[in-house]
Amino acid sequence: MRTETPQTIRLEDYRPSDHLIDRVELDIRLDPHATRVEAVLAVRPNPEGVPGAPLALDGDDLALVAVELDGQRLAPDAYAASPSGLILHAPPQRPFVLRVETRLDPSANTKLMGLYRSGGVYCTQCEADGFRRITYFLDRPDVLSVYTTRIEAERAEAPVLLGNGNPVEAGDVPGTGRHFAVWHDPHPKPAYLFALVGGNLGGVRTTFTTMEGREVAVGVHVEPGKEERAAYALDAVVRSMRWDEEVFGRAYDLDVFNVVAVSDFNMGAMENKGLNIFNDKYVLASPETATDADYAHIEAIIAHEYFHNWSGNRVTCRDWFQLCLKEGLTVFRDQEFSSDMRSRAVHRIGEVRTLRARQFTEDAGPLAHPVRPRQYAEINNFYTATVYEKGAEIVRMLKTLLGEADFGAGMERYFADNDGRAATVEDFLAAFAAVSGRDLAAFAQWYEHPGTPKLAVEGRHDAASARYTLSFRQDLPNGPALPMPIALGLVGASGALDGAVCERVRDGVFVLEGEADAITFANVPEPPVPSLLRGFSAPVRLEMAMDDADRLTLLRHDPDPFNRWHAAQSVATRLLVDASATADARMEAGPYAEALAAFLDAEALSDPAFAALVLSLPGEGDIANEIARNVDPDAIHRARTGLRRALGSALGTRLAGLRDSLADAPGAPFSPDAASAGRRALRNAALDLIAAADPEAGAALAERQLTEAATMTDRLAALGILSLIPGAARERAVDGFGERYAAEPLVLDKWFAIQAAIPEEATLARIARLKGHPAFAMTNPNRVRALIGAFAMGNPTQFARADGAGFALLADTVRALDGTNPQIAAKLLTAFGSWRMLEPGRAAAARGVLEAIRSIPNLSRDVADIVGRTLAG
Ligand code: TRP
Ligand code: ZN
Repeated sequence: MRTETPQTIRLEDYRPSDHLIDRVELDIRLDPHATRVEAVLAVRPNPEGVPGAPLALDGDDLALVAVELDGQRLAPDAYAASPSGLILHAPPQRPFVLRVETRLDPSANTKLMGLYRSGGVYCTQCEADGFRRITYFLDRPDVLSVYTTRIEAERAEAPVLLGNGNPVEAGDVPGTGRHFAVWHDPHPKPAYLFALVGGNLGGVRTTFTTMEGREVAVGVHVEPGKEERAAYALDAVVRSMRWDEEVFGRAYDLDVFNVVAVSDFNMGAMENKGLNIFNDKYVLASPETATDADYAHIEAIIAHEYFHNWSGNRVTCRDWFQLCLKEGLTVFRDQEFSSDMRSRAVHRIGEVRTLRARQFTEDAGPLAHPVRPRQYAEINNFYTATVYEKGAEIVRMLKTLLGEADFGAGMERYFADNDGRAATVEDFLAAFAAVSGRDLAAFAQWYEHPGTPKLAVEGRHDAASARYTLSFRQDLPNGPALPMPIALGLVGASGALDGAVCERVRDGVFVLEGEADAITFANVPEPPVPSLLRGFSAPVRLEMAMDDADRLTLLRHDPDPFNRWHAAQSVATRLLVDASATADARMEAGPYAEALAAFLDAEALSDPAFAALVLSLPGEGDIANEIARNVDPDAIHRARTGLRRALGSALGTRLAGLRDSLADAPGAPFSPDAASAGRRALRNAALDLIAAADPEAGAALAERQLTEAATMTDRLAALGILSLIPGAARERAVDGFGERYAAEPLVLDKWFAIQAAIPEEATLARIARLKGHPAFAMTNPNRVRALIGAFAMGNPTQFARADGAGFALLADTVRALDGTNPQIAAKLLTAFGSWRMLEPGRAAAARGVLEAIRSIPNLSRDVADIVGRTLAG
């Protein structure tokens, strides 16, 4: 029930719990509508808490059946129970045992938090505060308990029963058709890591022997019949286990590790101890249904959740303000893993693209917040790009600043000192300070201030002395100077200037400590082109006046692949920003196209994945962020279409040639590896530009690719290209695809998303029609994200239509979901985060829609929080 008034929780108000719960024994009898939960809690006063304080257990939507203390019924005036809490006014000031019985209706749980059913499977989601929807508890991450869980269910309904930890016992409940399983998790954990699963599931299994000699039974559990689609995820688990041993020295610590895929899930996946629960989108893959991007995401998310076993579970968070402690660090770890499994340079470019598209956008808008927020009304709204992505960048900077050896030693120290504890960002930094002897106080400020720092750089060459000086100035409004590692080098007309020397640059990195500084290189006979922020060594906005010719010199000669890509992007960005300011859609690609042509001739075949990235233009959102005010999405779309057309005309013959050279031999076996994926990426980037220049020829090529394709990547790319070319071929393709995959919801999601992103006025009507498609369901977050999310986040011209109809469509969805799944409603609403950048007419339309949402009575805390901050910021 939504009875609480929104209340702000502040970091500065943290105090330890007055009570601890050492052991939890749960007995959960699963039933579709009347699940009975018995919890036996070993409670004791916390020596660090207030003596004699009441015991205030959290609850959310709970129905109390019975409560006993040390085997005695409690007197009615000894406690107060409501759906949102159970309070013992004067608990004993010694250890005691509390037995609490609650009753739940998992089938009615549409929020997908706590215990719910997904496609007939019982499952749980307890992060951040869902455990309190299962039983009354001290539902905070600094209360760690050892759990024993008995799960009972109808054998026919739920033959598979999984819990945290190791299995200890299983059997029948005689004469009832029911059976049970008992699981014991020896590692103390906070309630948010609790999980159980019960259902009819198929599985694939293997074993992994850890470096400590423990034999682990690894299982991936999916809907029966889909077992072969779980093979890639299972392999990714094993590779993650091995990698974490080799790179971070972390071994797995239980006898079993289970992954379960469910089809209704609010987020990507969840790292419950020994029982990771996944959105099935991030487990299931087959050559027929999954794209190369799907395989890469599965690998990354499997790794992410597995890595949480140390960064999050063994070392957990003291409170939710420390969320980045586990999320930022674990994203850093999964990024390193993916970089080792694939191409590091290509992966880094992808990471930075998402960082800039999502985190920089968030940081520039009304929802900006520090990586460690100081206050929140609803914690579920803080699982953000800032906490995750910028949080990972801070860890990466720490590694760059300290160097490989001290960083590795600091990680070891962090795990050793905090194992079994609920830690803070301070504990994390203290480990690195201890091993390196460095003072990290200034660096710690990266966690505290919202906004993206600007880094302005100027270069001056002195021919007489053969010196080159770079002056740096950083600026973060209302923030201090932040220590920034700036990886850099100098490039000349024919390659890297290796002779240039500067004693303030160590291992290719200059650290800007204060607000401004300047460094001078000696032995620079010619005016160089500086290559700054190599590998995107700090999450800042770099501002340096540089002409296109110099940027294209970097594309040609920079030894840093990230900056080569970035050079091409920045030339494209300049062209697109300029063109967006004019009404003329004709564009000249000129020297940019010539440079790309030379680049493709020299390198496309040796590194197609990288070439595909160099060829792809900044997105419409990136261009909008660059323009930043008075944004007209139609003008941006026109400009981008114009540049794609110009590039396609200039490079057409070459692109067609590349498509032929990179084609798979007919009948070649499918492989999702990075090299094969790279070839597909370049072929499809080429087709996109060809079609932009010559829609008729492009449509024919795409139609043929759609019929002949052997992979979902190629089929979907063809459909995406066709979707931009109005006409009969498009409708044929869309209908055919929809029929072919009518029984594949995850593939239909891609189909929904492509149609929702069509930049045409008729898209609103198309979406209205698709909402009535038999496979669409407002109760399933993947479906909603595919149709409505893809529209709001991926179709800027139609979402931000001048008549406000796009905004209204999103508002309708938010209204429809607010009562059933407020987390998803709030997430969708964040699409309004850039509304203030829009030109006044569109901004006014957005404001009107937001104000209408704000005035809805009984709005969920989730949506009220987002709408309030979006309007205020
Ligand atoms: N901890 C999860 C992760 O690995 C995040 C998560 C999964 C989550 N499900 C959630 C957060 C539901 C809030 C609500 O990133
Ligand atoms: Zn995570």
